[in-house]
Amino acid sequence: MQSATQLHPIWRDYPALQPELQQVMQLMTANINIQDADINDAILEMIHGGGKLLRPAYCLLFSQFTTTDRQRMVALAASLETLHTATLIHDDIVDDAALRRHHVTIQERFGKDTAVYAGDYLFVVVFKILAHYSSSFKSIQMNSENMEKILVGEVQQKDRHYHLDITMAEYLQQIQGKTAELFALSCFLGAYESGQSSHFAQRARKAGLAIGMAFQILDDILDYQEVSQETGKPILEDVAEGVYTSPLIFALQTEAKHDLLPLMRLQGAISDTQRQEVQRLVINAGGVVQAQELATKYTQDALAIMRKLPDQPAKTDLISLTKRLLDRHN
Ligand code: IPE
Ligand code: IPE
Ligand code: MG
Ligand code: MG
Ligand code: MG
Repeated sequence: MQSATQLHPIWRDYPALQPELQQVMQLMTANINIQDADINDAILEMIHGGGKLLRPAYCLLFSQFTTTDRQRMVALAASLETLHTATLIHDDIVDDAALRRHHVTIQERFGKDTAVYAGDYLFVVVFKILAHYSSSFKSIQMNSENMEKILVGEVQQKDRHYHLDITMAEYLQQIQGKTAELFALSCFLGAYESGQSSHFAQRARKAGLAIGMAFQILDDILDYQEVSQETGKPILEDVAEGVYTSPLIFALQTEAKHDLLPLMRLQGAISDTQRQEVQRLVINAGGVVQAQELATKYTQDALAIMRKLPDQPAKTDLISLTKRLLDRHN
């Protein structure tokens, strides 16, 4: 199928990173080889569907503070993106999402069974790559622990579906598991597997955790934004699915609560017009602005850690990329 891959435009400003991100894509592609044509094609289309490759990029950047075996780092970065892709495929089943990266989702096009198998297969590929390239059992152990954290985060979210009294603390715990921990792992592995001290690797992990928190908060805000054409994901889905995120949780702390609760009680039966009413109420109550401030706080935490890193080109790239994520429209 596709061989040459168009990288996401975000990487135009980071030419030094482009060749290795291309190699990440090639390695992932080379490892997809399952006999079922639907599953094979669906995965390849997904991989080449324009993902941003943020997790491998953070892994590679954190590995650049020392000279190391680049092929191994590329492989580890590929394992992280493969894990991410698997979670997205399963996430779209759970969220009943019809669109991903501007394309029809695997579950929508081929059915849930093909989508489950495609995700499962990618989990296998993650461990195939790791078993081949990892320098230690520690990385494999951390990867499996990380899968568990993602799962637990998702399950916590499911357990609090449609709960009108969800707290900010519960929300933050969910997003840490389902999203931030994978960013943390990506940064940690880049540092650790390139031979950095465990102190350095722990700092990388902390930065990654903060980036991931900011990233998911911003993703959740996108669901409330007026124009969301560029994301390739439908808007106003979370409320209907019972996923109550920070803009709404902030708005529920204001007088808007009285108008919001009856709409939230409609659960999945909420109409398009009523979703827009939720959106309007949340925005007017300042929920989106407060959520943006929360994301900024996490981004500042990440930047503070990065500013203390040794002065090398990777540091500049890490800081600029992280600042850019704050201004996220894609
Ligand atoms: C989407 O992640 C899932 C979340 C954690 C919000 P990305 O926005 O990194 O997805 P792609 O890989 O670029 O499509
Ligand atoms: C994504 O959360 C988290 C995982 C993939 C585990 P979302 O459900 O918010 O992601 P999008 O918005 O569909 O990308
Ligand atoms: Mg989703
Ligand atoms: Mg989801
Ligand atoms: Mg989302």
